[in-house]
Amino acid sequence: MVRRPLIIDCDPGVDDAIALLLALASPEDFNLLGITTVAGNVPLNLTQYNARRITHLAQRLDIPVYAGCPRPVLRAPVTAEHVHGQTGLDGADLPQPTQPLQPHHAVAFLIDQCKAAQTPITLATLGPLTNLAVALIQAPEIVNTIDQVVTMGGALGRGNVTPNAEFNIYADPHAAQIVVEAGLKLTLIPLDVTHQVITTPERLAALENLGNSVGQAAAGLLRYYGQREGECYGLAGAPLHDPCVIAYLLQPDLFSGRPMHLAIETDSPLCLGRTVADPNGDKSANAMILETVNAPAFYQLLTERLGGLHRD
Ligand code: BDR
Ligand code: CA
Repeated sequence: MVRRPLIIDCDPGVDDAIALLLALASPEDFNLLGITTVAGNVPLNLTQYNARRITHLAQRLDIPVYAGCPRPVLRAPVTAEHVHGQTGLDGADLPQPTQPLQPHHAVAFLIDQCKAAQTPITLATLGPLTNLAVALIQAPEIVNTIDQVVTMGGALGRGNVTPNAEFNIYADPHAAQIVVEAGLKLTLIPLDVTHQVITTPERLAALENLGNSVGQAAAGLLRYYGQREGECYGLAGAPLHDPCVIAYLLQPDLFSGRPMHLAIETDSPLCLGRTVADPNGDKSANAMILETVNAPAFYQLLTERLGGLHRD
């Protein structure tokens, strides 16, 4: 099987960390070229550090980690420590990374990889879209060597950071607009889908009982985060937003969706960051917007893959 060349752009963040573990546990599916980080759930100095804590935990020191943009394109940074904790990865005792941060900027890495690509690259975006937007401004020709972008972001129903907006899009709506209008093959996984994959005590126990340090850490992180998300948004457990992106790349048949026209609201104070999707087909489609996920099969995939990571 051909391994898909992949770059993951993220802001770990507990659910980003679980997404990274799922990708790091899938070396036969992904040629993971690198992890790029952005300011989001916590500031950039923590997101890049947390990404390296996760590659260390997974014993995948071969995967380089880059730091990107420290703030959104126009707006002041918005963070989410109230959900992910002060470190961004509260709830587990994670190792100090031994792997250094790469010296190059994440945007330069993205551009260089796309320009040099023999096979078009897949981008998985799990945070605000600042890095990709800046790369597209700096080198618009990279659209030709990006195979597809799969993005966790947006909400067709209720938002989570405001009634109308989801965190990743709200945090940098101008970047999201640049990405949506770039003419890329874009798949959007909104809250309407990610709220279908909520942790339960049984699902957490299955991770905890995997018998490796990854399973223990994942369960600890998700217990902490589930409690915080539950308090904030009235959920029964932790929604695994970002892992949906990786699961979609591994098993797209777990999801269903429709092509629709997508636009980002960047002006209205009440609706800033709203993802406006047109299900009526009045405008031509520019994104595949996912609507459902098979939650039991999603958790089976996640648990099996994390169980395959190193034993200690
Ligand atoms: C998204 O926002 C972040 O807090 C999560 O990591 C996820 O990417 C969910 O709205
Ligand atoms: Ca994220």
